[in-house]
Amino acid sequence: MKLRPVLPSEASVYSRLRNGEHTYQCFYSARQFSETEVAAWLASLDSATEKLYFAEDGGRIVGTCAVYGIDSTARRAEVGRIIVDESMRKRGLGAVMLGLLIEECRKLGLTAIFANIKEENAASQRLFLGAGFRLVERRTETGGYFEKWLVQAG
Ligand SMILES: CC(C)(COP(=O)(O)OP(=O)(O)OC[C@H]1O[C@@H](n2cnc3c(N)ncnc32)[C@H](O)[C@@H]1OP(=O)(O)O)[C@@H](O)C(=O)NCCC(=O)NCCS
Repeated sequence: MKLRPVLPSEASVYSRLRNGEHTYQCFYSARQFSETEVAAWLASLDSATEKLYFAEDGGRIVGTCAVYGIDSTARRAEVGRIIVDESMRKRGLGAVMLGLLIEECRKLGLTAIFANIKEENAASQRLFLGAGFRLVERRTETGGYFEKWLVQAG
């Protein structure tokens, strides 16, 4: 598997992943987005603070993930918008993709990354805990706040 940037022209592929019946409710917006909305959103992304990736495996797009709110001064950012194609879940692809995303975050020079995950999203919580994130706090509005430090001790 490898990560590569989502192109502005790929709104239809992104919409298909994002609007899946077992996907859109996992996000805070909890709604589907039209291809036009997605295209406008892709065009508006600021690559200095936000990176959106497709994960490709064997030449096929199997998922997407992102790092955003990149604060180069504090060297922190949020990770998420993680989606594995509905037909390919529970095969370890999410774990591989999150591992690659963490590597990208290291390359960006980040020292800490965090994620907000809904209380009911057991799959995502398990995914992040498995990648070494720890639950810092349960928040009423946004659910679990998870964090991972990327700096090595010593
Ligand atoms: C969350 C998601 C990316 C996980 O992808 P995946 O490829 O199925 O995950 P993996 O197969 O790598 O499994 C990762 C871990 O989650 C667990 N898991 C996967 N699906 C699960 C489920 N439905 N319920 C509970 N645990 C689950 C796996 O058992 C594994 O944990 P383990 O290593 O301790 O056994 C996928 O379910 C998805 O796209 N969900 C919809 C979008 C979403 O919720 N995104 C995150 C928003 S914060």
